[in-house]
Amino acid sequence: MAPSRAGPVAVPTLVIVSHTDIASSRAHRKLLDAIAGLPGVVVRHLEALYPDGRIDVAREQAAVLAATRIVFQFPFNWYSTPPLLKAWQDDVLAVGFAFGPGGTHLRGKQLQLVFTAGGTRESYRAGGHNLFEVTELLKPLEATAHFVGMTMLPPLVLYYVPNVPGIPVPDDADARIDAFCLRYCDLLAAPEAATAVTLP
Ligand SMILES: Cc1cc2nc3c(=O)[nH]c(=O)nc-3n(C[C@H](O)[C@H](O)[C@H](O)COP(=O)(O)O)c2cc1C
Repeated sequence: MAPSRAGPVAVPTLVIVSHTDIASSRAHRKLLDAIAGLPGVVVRHLEALYPDGRIDVAREQAAVLAATRIVFQFPFNWYSTPPLLKAWQDDVLAVGFAFGPGGTHLRGKQLQLVFTAGGTRESYRAGGHNLFEVTELLKPLEATAHFVGMTMLPPLVLYYVPNVPGIPVPDDADARIDAFCLRYCDLLAAPEAATAVTLP
């Protein structure tokens, strides 16, 4: 069971979760457990809601309208979001809703990325194993947020939790995942949604 903390929530929050194989997850199953039932937090797990991949755009847009802060929770997949979260962006951030004539409904909302990576913090350095800092790799999401009038907050990242067959799992992975669960709950409970920190 993942550790959790309940507390007051000042920011109505929509958490959009995406993971291509949650049944095999080590980190995101615990993260889902940890945030379940937090006050003011609505969690929508895309693969569970849409096993056929067909997103109910009207329902997703209604969920977006009710939130001030939108969290994308996902494992890094080839330096980006999993495919159903990309489809969510393609479908939900539609003309007339997110941009273009009448498309003002995202303006003033916050986008918070909460994600896990197999690579170490050190591997995400300019010129390092993954060539770039994560902030560089996240620029398409930052540009998307800017385009629709949202503010992208500093991401909350848990590095070095590989969950790929054939890749060894670090001995301390579960302890770091548990600590991350608590940081995540604190972030969701924070009255100011701009205090996210990147974990080592
Ligand atoms: C298809 C795929 C692509 C991945 N791409 C990356 C990547 O670009 N960078 C990275 O650090 N880890 C990558 N990983 C590792 C995952 O991010 C890692 O296994 C995941 O965050 C662990 O979370 P989980 O235990 O909930 O599955 C990838 C894993 C898969 C399956």
